[in-house]
Amino acid sequence: MLAATETVHHNGVMFDFAPEAGATGPELYDKLIRAAEALVAGEPDGVANMANVAALIWQFVPDLNWAGFYRMVDGVLVLGPFIGKPACLRIALGSGVCGTAALTGETQCVADVHAFPGHIACDAASESELVVPVKLAGAVIAVIDLDSPRKDRFLPDDARGIEALAAAIAPAVGG
Ligand code: SME
Repeated sequence: MLAATETVHHNGVMFDFAPEAGATGPELYDKLIRAAEALVAGEPDGVANMANVAALIWQFVPDLNWAGFYRMVDGVLVLGPFIGKPACLRIALGSGVCGTAALTGETQCVADVHAFPGHIACDAASESELVVPVKLAGAVIAVIDLDSPRKDRFLPDDARGIEALAAAIAPAVGG
């Protein structure tokens, strides 16, 4: 169940989630995923669900300068809901960190974006990046992209946590 500080008002407008102070790793992502599942429950619109999940990631995961989605549209990644500076609109499969994740279907955890061949710089502040494919019935339907201004920001716990989040919300994103 959600903690007392986390209230969901499905018939109202208030979504009050908060990570517990000092929560890290699996515990943090467990909370994030439960909050995301509560938020997307019953909402069929994929864009609305991606918008709320991007906002939750921003609230729960520290040290980010960009968090959001690119959606697979006719074989190209197209910018989806996000928090951060305006970003490139379309990314070809195989291009940059996002296009590599979408093409391979594999999580890309990049400790230093400047060392990643073909990295696409949308915000000069970005130093490290985590991109996780969102899959439905085995097909990549979107990617979740997190950027940090800190090198080496993303650890295996972050990759596994965002992968679990992607699996949990995939049906709500595909809608
Ligand atoms: N850095 C990404 C592009 C998207 S922005 O970071 C938001 C990439 O190389 O695919």
